[in-house]
Amino acid sequence: MPTLNSICAAVAVLVLGNTCLAASNETPAAAVAPTVLTAERPAMFASTREIDARVAALLRQMTLAEKLGQLTQFSNGDATGPDNVKIDQKELAARGGIGSLLNVSGAKACNELQRQAVEKSRLKIPLLFGLDVIHGHRTVYPIPLGLSAAWDTDLAQRCAGMAAVEATADGIRWTFSPMVDIARDARWGRIAEGSGEDPYLGARMAAAWVRGYQGRHLSDPDSMLACAKHYVAYGGAEGGRDYNTVDISERTLRDVYLPPFKAAVDAGAGTLMSAFNTLQGVPASANRHTLTDILRTEWGFRGFVVSDWDSIGELIQHGVALDGREAAWKAFTAGVDMDMQSNLYGTKLPELLRSGRLKMELIDQAVARVLRVKFALGLFERPYTDEKLSATRILTPEHIELARQAAEESFVLLKNDPVHGQPLLPLAEGKSVALIGSLAESQADMFGAWVMKGDPKDAVSLRQALAARWKGKLLYAKGVDTRGESEAGFGAALAAAGRADVVLMALGEAPDMSGEAESRAHLGLPGKQLKLLQAVVATGKPVVLIVFSGRPLALPWEAEHVAAILEAWFPGVQAGPALARTLCGDVSPSGRLTATFPRSVGQMPLYYNTFSTGRPSPGKDRYVTGYIDELNSPLFPFGWGLSYTKFEYSPTRISTQRISAAELERGTAIAVEATVTNSGPRAGVEVVQLYTCQRGTSVARPVRELKGFERIALAAGEARRVKFSLGKKELAFWNIELMHAVEPGELTVWVAPHSRGGQAAKIMIGDGP
Ligand code: NOJ
Repeated sequence: MPTLNSICAAVAVLVLGNTCLAASNETPAAAVAPTVLTAERPAMFASTREIDARVAALLRQMTLAEKLGQLTQFSNGDATGPDNVKIDQKELAARGGIGSLLNVSGAKACNELQRQAVEKSRLKIPLLFGLDVIHGHRTVYPIPLGLSAAWDTDLAQRCAGMAAVEATADGIRWTFSPMVDIARDARWGRIAEGSGEDPYLGARMAAAWVRGYQGRHLSDPDSMLACAKHYVAYGGAEGGRDYNTVDISERTLRDVYLPPFKAAVDAGAGTLMSAFNTLQGVPASANRHTLTDILRTEWGFRGFVVSDWDSIGELIQHGVALDGREAAWKAFTAGVDMDMQSNLYGTKLPELLRSGRLKMELIDQAVARVLRVKFALGLFERPYTDEKLSATRILTPEHIELARQAAEESFVLLKNDPVHGQPLLPLAEGKSVALIGSLAESQADMFGAWVMKGDPKDAVSLRQALAARWKGKLLYAKGVDTRGESEAGFGAALAAAGRADVVLMALGEAPDMSGEAESRAHLGLPGKQLKLLQAVVATGKPVVLIVFSGRPLALPWEAEHVAAILEAWFPGVQAGPALARTLCGDVSPSGRLTATFPRSVGQMPLYYNTFSTGRPSPGKDRYVTGYIDELNSPLFPFGWGLSYTKFEYSPTRISTQRISAAELERGTAIAVEATVTNSGPRAGVEVVQLYTCQRGTSVARPVRELKGFERIALAAGEARRVKFSLGKKELAFWNIELMHAVEPGELTVWVAPHSRGGQAAKIMIGDGP
């Protein structure tokens, strides 16, 4: 058995391959730290020289109108934003006046438009079809916030790969996903679309999604170009109001909001989408600092940037441009290559060229970026999609199985108190069950936000799944809708509860209460749901609350009075079977929260990696940071989640008590480990989390920061030593000089089950050589 010292020595070598990642269940290719360039990068980067030569040859033949066409994107079909501009897209494609379309889908529809571009236009440059394939195409899997709760990057990669296989069969080679915005405020409806509040987890997930969508080579016909969005800091919207102002420091931008984008770029993402918000007063879609200085100069990004829907036109509403010409100029010179829906590049850039304010080289550069991606995708060789393909590619048994696994891994058991001496979940055999709530029955409600092609008929509801399993022992009453004031169903629901041994209440948000423009000022169960829940709890019957939501909800009454609570998010097509298997104990819940659950809305924004302040709470007297009428602590913290078994943690052990910052800068790493034991009665999966806090540094650091995690499956009674390494990649931060460096200081380390648990160990990071 290796000693801690030998582990430490080995780590200097192993950290290059990242022991922590390698120890997880990622594929070998994925085990390489995301910031390292590898041979596994998609072909877009690997075959640059050949592609660049083709791009240069094509550019030489293009007229200005054809060039601007490549920088123009319009929506066709259902709008996914305001003011859907209507244009004759066939005619435009036939004269090379458009480079990309969004919201067209289906091989036939795509092929028809593609034919105009490839067979009628002068230079035969193929169109690129984009769509918001956010959490599955036809096989809908959990919303991204739910999928992130699995803390399983391999699962996320496989889900994204499945979406790519299905969507590409429908002619879609570009998805506007992953959304990698960090979200610290549950009022913001788009928290549903991302991986929660943590930059480390967000970065790991971002890389996994990109790898899944793009596969090994962008030129593979089932590879789908990823688009990391919304660049950048969109999730920092003040008050959680969508599209709102973001005003954060450069350090917070770099420490918190940029890492997932950097990870996406390092994983080979071909495109980014510029956001709607302002950042330090500068709209993200006209922000040269983020779009050029950071993205291009610091990170070396070679793909292209598309604006969000009319975010170039919206520069006028922001007040940084008086007209469309100025808006186009600002966005374009800042670094936005393609104009989604504003119709400003095609119409205004020529005037700017004529006036001499814009140089043709800049246009050529943007066109080259778009063409490079199109060549890398193999669109010039294979512009069309086989119209028979989708029949064999969608909703295959493997896809449905993966969607079920993803749903099961996403569920978070928030509470599971004993009733008559036994935890209420899993449900005991032979009991009669009353199932209450419209969400238990509605197939359409299982998808959540942003489902463009999912068909509710494909979804299995909880009622369907439980009815098959519990036969005569299941009673169902709708009781209440997610919205509205009607209490008409209360009587039937209470009657069903009265006749059953256990009551399952399926409550939460309607799917359209989260997602874009779906911010909420109240975070409780909407409508009359809490009132019905209170009435059912008052009957004295044991109650399991199954929460469907696109965000953390504030559930203080529920947490105090309901015996068991399972957070189900929006699970997708396999909602029912996954929930039934979990409730009945075929599988133990293994999800862990990736966004903090508050006690009340007034605590928002609430996130675990906050600063201490000079007067932390609880303190020695009343002058502390906090509220007079609410606790500071969350209802359920980041990383929280129970299992049907129990896990015990040994003290955290560190390989050494002292190391210098210089050694860490040079590549040595600290080895950390703890033993985790399944001390409960059955097998289960634990998500072991590594946190640090550094003090004595040039700038204040968060009270805790996630620096590693590993999902481990343990049989009853089994113990496992879980090892992590902390090197420069984990410990560097943006210091007082805005340099990314490791600093001396005292480091506290926890190997923990969640962000408020674990036993602390300390190490001194010293000055000197
Ligand atoms: C606006 C949304 O902000 C973005 O996420 C989406 O990709 C585009 N519309 C296209 O639908």
